[in-house]
Amino acid sequence: MRFVLKALLVLTILAVAVAGAIAVSLVNRGISTKAAPTWVEVQIARAMRHLAIPRADRERTSPVPASPKTVQAGLEHFADHCAICHGNDGSGDVQIGRNLYPKAPDLRDADTQTLSDGELFHIIENGVRLTGMPGWSTGTPEGEEASWHLVHFIRHLPRVTDQELARMEELNPKSPHEFREEEEMRRFLEGEEAKPPAASPKHPHSGGHDD
Ligand code: HEC
Repeated sequence: MRFVLKALLVLTILAVAVAGAIAVSLVNRGISTKAAPTWVEVQIARAMRHLAIPRADRERTSPVPASPKTVQAGLEHFADHCAICHGNDGSGDVQIGRNLYPKAPDLRDADTQTLSDGELFHIIENGVRLTGMPGWSTGTPEGEEASWHLVHFIRHLPRVTDQELARMEELNPKSPHEFREEEEMRRFLEGEEAKPPAASPKHPHSGGHDD
C-alpha cells in the first residue's frame, strides 16, 4: 500500500512538472504556427504516429498495381485535393503548407519515402490528429482505390516532370475570381471581346508569395 501511495505521489509530481514545463514553453514560445517544431518534437511525433498505425495496416500492400495510368489518376487527385497544402511538387512550400504547425512535410524526402505503402495509405485515409492533415476515407472501394493511386503518385513525386507540373496547375482548384479572370482572358483571346481584361490586384494574402 505504501509503495502504491509513493508511486502515486511521484507520478503526480511528475505530471505537475510536465504540465508546468508545457505551460512555460507555451508562454515563452507562444502559440504561433509560424515557429518550426523542435527536432525532439518532430522525432516524438513521428514515432508516436508510427506506433499509432496498426501493424497490419503498415504491412498492407497495394491491391492496385502502379502503372502510368494509376500514377496519372493519383496526380489528378493530388492537384485537386492535396496541392493546396503540399504543393504540386510535394515540397510543402506553399502558403498554407508553410504556415501550418507542424508544417506540411516535403513528401519527396526520405522521411516520407521510407514509410511503407501501407503507412502512407493509412495516413491518407485517416489523417493525422492534431495536425492539418485531414483524413480522406469515404468508406467506399472507389475511395480506397483513389488513396492507393495517391500512394503511387507520392512514390513518383521525386521524379515528377515539368510537363506533369504544368498539367497539375490546370487542375488546381481556382477561386471564383480567378475563374472569372481566366474566362475573360479566354474570351479576349478568341476575339469575342475587344479589350484585354484589366489585371486586378492580387489578394493581399497571396500577392508576392505563390499560387
Ligand atoms: C490542410 C492541409 C493538408 C491537406 C489538404 C493535405 N495534407 Fe497531407 N499533410 C498535412 C500536414 C500538416 C502533414 C504533416 C502531418 C504530421 O506531421 O504528422 C501532412 C502529412 C501527410 C503525409 C505524411 C508524410 C510524412 O512524411 O509525414 C502524407 C502521405 C500526406 N500528408 C498526403 C496527403 C494527400 C495524398 C493529400 C490529399 C488527398 C493531403 N495530404 C492533403 C497537411 C495537409
